[in-house]
Amino acid sequence: YRSALKEIRTKLEILNDEFRLVHQYNPIEHIESRLKTDESITRKLMRKGKEITVENIQKYIDDIAGVRVICSFPDDIYQLAESFLKQDDITLIERKDYIKNPKPSGYRSLHLIIQVPIFLQNEKKMVNVEVQFRTIAMDFWASLDHKMRYKKELSSEEVEIIQEELYDCARQSAALDERMQGIRDRITKKQRTDTLLIEDKL
Ligand code: GTP
Ligand code: MG
Repeated sequence: YRSALKEIRTKLEILNDEFRLVHQYNPIEHIESRLKTDESITRKLMRKGKEITVENIQKYIDDIAGVRVICSFPDDIYQLAESFLKQDDITLIERKDYIKNPKPSGYRSLHLIIQVPIFLQNEKKMVNVEVQFRTIAMDFWASLDHKMRYKKELSSEEVEIIQEELYDCARQSAALDERMQGIRDRITKKQRTDTLLIEDKL
């Protein structure tokens, strides 16, 4: 699983490098990755009512290797995800688009479960990786939401009020993402026409 994290990170970094070369900017703000802890794997299997065995871990837990790709703009997420999924050693297992269809909490991100081959001395292993794509705003929101979920001291009334407010924040941050992307598009369109005008004159 650790090797799979390296593979996926490298693939994404290469796409980012190419993007920078062609478009003079980085679609990826930063990449995070993590391996699920033994404790968290055990908890998840128990929650699913499965016995703790190596087979069950491989069969029922698809986010042991997790990569999070933080982008500036929503459109870049789709462009990156498309280029990533086009690679012929990547197999898409599951796609959940919580950007187009946010969760009831307000959570937004694009989730892909993919499979990547890892070449060992005598075998090829297919490894699942969960890749979450989000904007900086989506990530900011998710970490605050996460903080609330793990605060055991909050009363149920407090949680309910905070959840409503978080939901409203999610809507506002989605609107902000769209507006900022609109501005970005106007700027890059202007840059493109200016470059064309200069090329015309030369
Ligand atoms: P499990 O993988 O069993 O948890 O369920 P699932 O596969 O239906 O989950 P899903 O793909 O919807 O989401 C998995 C991950 O997305 C979680 O581990 C979180 O990192 C993130 N996530 C999903 N919903 C929320 C949410 O409402 N708030 C926050 N902060 N994170 C979320
Ligand atoms: Mg999952």
